[in-house]
Amino acid sequence: MKVLLSREQIAEAVARMGKQISRDFAGESVVLIGVLKGACLFLSDLARQIELDATFDFIAVRSYGTKKEAAGEVQLIKDVTTPLRDVNVILVEDILDTGLTLTFLRKHLCAHQPRAFKIATLLDKPSRRAAPVQADYVGFQIPDEFVVGYGLDFAERYRNLPDICVLESP
Ligand code: IMP
Ligand code: MG
Repeated sequence: MKVLLSREQIAEAVARMGKQISRDFAGESVVLIGVLKGACLFLSDLARQIELDATFDFIAVRSYGTKKEAAGEVQLIKDVTTPLRDVNVILVEDILDTGLTLTFLRKHLCAHQPRAFKIATLLDKPSRRAAPVQADYVGFQIPDEFVVGYGLDFAERYRNLPDICVLESP
């Protein structure tokens, strides 16, 4: 498989994002909410680059569609348990593609009336956007290619690859 982003490039971007978040929320606490399962590797590395009082929570959704295409129907399968009212929430996602997942999650989480709501995504495919959503912290903008590794899967496989690779013929 062709490596698109090496583990060194990923580590550099994650460190940069952690510094930005630490600067933006200096003196405050944050709740990092990871979108399962894809964001769990990113969250665990990002958290260690954030020099703030931080807690974690996780949320899981399922989006219906064929193997590589997200459909538009998003269903909540695991909710957070942390009270979010008046706290600083950073939603941590692996990839922002059509934006349908994050549009759903933003609405769901903002209903709790957090003090701040920010989105951190490792990857952004802006050319695929179908819903108007932007991330506040972005690791890399990538072209419209299907990628796996560092948490990202194809049919649940390849999440454990240390680099982000382009899946050409699954
Ligand atoms: P969206 O709702 O289209 O923005 O899709 C976001 C979700 O689609 C991500 O959380 C991933 O699970 C999945 N996804 C989108 N593009 C890719 C990709 O290139 N590789 C692996 N998963 C992807
Ligand atoms: Mg995902």
